Amino acid sequence: MDGTGILNLLLVISVLLMQIVYSETQNPRIYYMHIKSDVKFRFATTLVTSKVANSAKTPVEAHFEVTLPDAAFITEFIMEIDGRTYPGEINEKAKAKEKYDTAKKRGQSAGHVAQKPRHTNRFSVDVNIAAESKVTFNLTYQELLERVYEEYEHIIYVDPGQIVEDFQIDVYIQESRDITKVSVPPLRNDILSDANEGKNALALIERPTQRSATIHYAPTANDQKQMSDQGISGLFVVEYDVQRKFDAGEVMVVDGYFVHFFAPEGMDPIPKDVLFILDVSSSMSGTKIQQQRDAMDSILQDLHEGDQFNIMEFSTRANLWQKTLLPANTENKQKARDYAKNMNANGWTDINTAMLKGIEFLNAIPSAGSTGNRMKILVFLTDGQASKGEQNTDYILKNIDRKNIKGLPVFSLAFGNDADYEFVKKVAVKNKGVARKIFEDSDASLQIKGFYNEISSSALQNVSFKYLDKNADVTVNATKMNFDTFFNGKEIVIAGKLSDDNVQVLNLIVTGNGVDGHVELELESDIQSRVPELTKVGDLEKITERIWAYLTIKQLLEKAIGENDELEKKTLNDKALEMSLKYKFVTPLTSMVVTKPDERDLGTFEENEDAGLAIADDSVAPKLAGFSSVSRTSSRTQSSSSSGSRTSHYHARRTGSGGGGGGGSRGGGGGGDPHFMLRINGIEFPICFDVDARDGDVIRMLKDPIAGITINAGIIGSTVKNKQGEFKTFVGELVILAPAARIDIKPDDIIFNGAALSWNDESVFEMEGIKIHVNRNALHDRTVYIDFGNDIIIEIRRLMKEGTDRDVSYLNMYIDNEKGISDMAGGILGQFVHKKTTLFKIGLDKKGREHGHFRETENMNKTHFNAILHKKPDIITGEMVWCWNVHKKTEGLLAGDIKDYFISDIGYA
Ligand SMILES: *[C@@H]1O[C@H](CO)[C@@H](O)[C@H](O)[C@H]1NC(C)=O
Ligand SMILES: *[C@@H]1O[C@H](CO)[C@@H](O)[C@H](O)[C@H]1NC(C)=O
Ligand SMILES: *[C@@H]1O[C@H](CO)[C@@H](O)[C@H](O)[C@H]1NC(C)=O
Ligand SMILES: *[C@@H]1O[C@H](CO)[C@@H](O)[C@H](O)[C@H]1NC(C)=O
Repeated sequence: MDGTGILNLLLVISVLLMQIVYSETQNPRIYYMHIKSDVKFRFATTLVTSKVANSAKTPVEAHFEVTLPDAAFITEFIMEIDGRTYPGEINEKAKAKEKYDTAKKRGQSAGHVAQKPRHTNRFSVDVNIAAESKVTFNLTYQELLERVYEEYEHIIYVDPGQIVEDFQIDVYIQESRDITKVSVPPLRNDILSDANEGKNALALIERPTQRSATIHYAPTANDQKQMSDQGISGLFVVEYDVQRKFDAGEVMVVDGYFVHFFAPEGMDPIPKDVLFILDVSSSMSGTKIQQQRDAMDSILQDLHEGDQFNIMEFSTRANLWQKTLLPANTENKQKARDYAKNMNANGWTDINTAMLKGIEFLNAIPSAGSTGNRMKILVFLTDGQASKGEQNTDYILKNIDRKNIKGLPVFSLAFGNDADYEFVKKVAVKNKGVARKIFEDSDASLQIKGFYNEISSSALQNVSFKYLDKNADVTVNATKMNFDTFFNGKEIVIAGKLSDDNVQVLNLIVTGNGVDGHVELELESDIQSRVPELTKVGDLEKITERIWAYLTIKQLLEKAIGENDELEKKTLNDKALEMSLKYKFVTPLTSMVVTKPDERDLGTFEENEDAGLAIADDSVAPKLAGFSSVSRTSSRTQSSSSSGSRTSHYHARRTGSGGGGGGGSRGGGGGGDPHFMLRINGIEFPICFDVDARDGDVIRMLKDPIAGITINAGIIGSTVKNKQGEFKTFVGELVILAPAARIDIKPDDIIFNGAALSWNDESVFEMEGIKIHVNRNALHDRTVYIDFGNDIIIEIRRLMKEGTDRDVSYLNMYIDNEKGISDMAGGILGQFVHKKTTLFKIGLDKKGREHGHFRETENMNKTHFNAILHKKPDIITGEMVWCWNVHKKTEGLLAGDIKDYFISDIGYA
């Protein structure tokens, strides 16, 4: 155990009980859910309002959760309870953390409620609703809709987990050009499914004007019921596009800020010279190589007439398929498909050599043939884990950079859940390309769909923008103005400030290289003449400025991620932070702190740490917006955790690499069946597990022969059954044996060496070197702290059944300070003090849930166990938190046989 681990091994007794009771009887009811999106110039502001009622005679917990599109920033959150509002506050991340820590130090054992698996943009809050009362949640987020495949796609994920009486989604679109199409496909369930055809029969689309559209979707309770007993669940999508021409696009100017949308129609794609670099090393064996074969088969069919290509396989060595590029005619494509079908995975992985050789190969091909402008690209397929030659990813990136003097774009596909996607993405982003991740548990050809068409649709290269008034540049602080490529079907957006208010006419010039050479497009925009229907007061206010701020922050974050110079990185981040705070966006540098009505920190929301790179990642991997507001029921818990995994599925998840990241425990506990939670250093989420116990059993929690402390727990039964039909059990008694003391603790009394102490006496009691101190906590339950004086402190909370729905009164135990516990300690909690537990791999199971593979090391003895990421009530706060749930089988987790932890007498030392 390393000295820094502050133990708080916790033992908790079941908040699970309450949970089950509620799930069967009184869910907090969501009686109102309105989602309203205002889309102006592709900038969408979405407000989710959910009203939840508790009609029960006792308080219940309501869970509010929204999954956001990757590209969205949260801007506001407000809760309303009993007429009072509780707004979320956006702070610098470090400050928010400080605030949280201070609250914690003061003993306000605040819950980090908004726990989330890393790399998903999810906002969630749990709040207690008093008996017979209501709470309203309002969450607002903003995003700039991206144009993909010739349309804007606005996605809202709906998953209330129950039938909602008053449910509706309204989307209002106002555009500057005529809207050419608006459609709402049926609710999509599988993100990757092809169900874009058809339409949602219940969605009403109206077109008040050529340049506006409204969508109203209000399924009745009956309609919802027809979808499922849990109501609606899926992606609500609005697709639209505006009129296009072969022109320089359109410019909006409001309050001195401009936004320019550039998406010309009708340009031919530039023919490509493509080299595919395929990883066929042994790490690709199994599903990955099969997926790579499938991916290549589908890409090769998509090659355009006029394209030329070749293939290079690499493992220990890199070998070209053909000596030179072949035209992409039917015959050659078929030959290549046959070749790709026979790929086998063997040997080491020398990424460095393969990439350098590939660049060399393409550079040696003469540019621009007689047929006009051509574009060379590298397509790199791998799982990203180098095992031969240069293996340091930073050096590989540097070597590629040095070699790629002509700036060939690299497009990457990363295979497998354990792919080093971070690295693969960097290879692409640093070389003007995009990356996409291919997951093992679903069809590769579906995931790859459109990939080649997308990357081969580049119609302009070296695209530059100028904004002039009488030949003088009139922009200040503009976003990026030079782009390597414009892809057909997409859009380039630029925003900035005009240098002064007197600019009357904005002359914009776009230049680039198209298939037939140099292209120049011009537009003269009279700033004073606005689109008539958008000029209503308030309509345009701040929109262009916000788009500018949004884009600027995204680009700063993106740049900071690619920046190697620490000082420069800091400058970029500081600027992004300043703007995030000024414009109130929750970004990777800020977080939102929500303070609960009882003045405790309720939780924080932190933006996906990957967001910066995620923008550069043009993967069509769906921009997911999600929403659910649910009660804490066991069934919901499951589906919300699986929908969570579904989302994170599409984001790079950094897996704990073998070796590193392990650590001793830094907290844990158990209860309810009993249910245990252990916090392990270096692992983000606690590990949780259950132990089957019966009324009258005694479990050994801790036995430390060096410190001379033993803690035994007496189990009591209840009248509530669990899912298996067995009566649920709790800890009804704890006996603590120290060298000169025996302390018996029950919900009704505390006996110290035969003398009775009161749960009501809040003074500090000291005897035999042991300090005992009872505290009233926020939930009106009481906690007794026991300080053994030698860096061992435990905390026991009692939860009384009186006045609640609890079936029995019971105890929770936490170890607050474990420093004094020796390496000789045993017991269900004690063993973790000296064990090293490592999470070495995360995968997805068939249901899309995250599956963790763990290793435990003790004296060179290694054991393994598996767990699924799941939501369970936190030991301390009772809030729903993510934990790695070890399902039933505790072999590999607990040393020896589970029977060894059961003893016959609660008084045994
Ligand atoms: C929440 O949003 C609704 C609109 O859906 C609005 O009427 C209400 O005033 C908002 N509540 C708060 C506290 O901002
Ligand atoms: C890209 O465009 C800029 C501005 O139009 C021009 O100065 C530059 O030479 C171009 N670069 C290439 C490689 O064509
Ligand atoms: C805009 O640019 C000026 C200098 O050109 C700089 O001083 C200022 O900080 C910039 N503002 C923002 C918000 O970046
Ligand atoms: C290693 O584990 C095995 C099986 O649990 C056990 O029998 C053995 O005593 C352990 N050895 C050490 C050194 O802990």
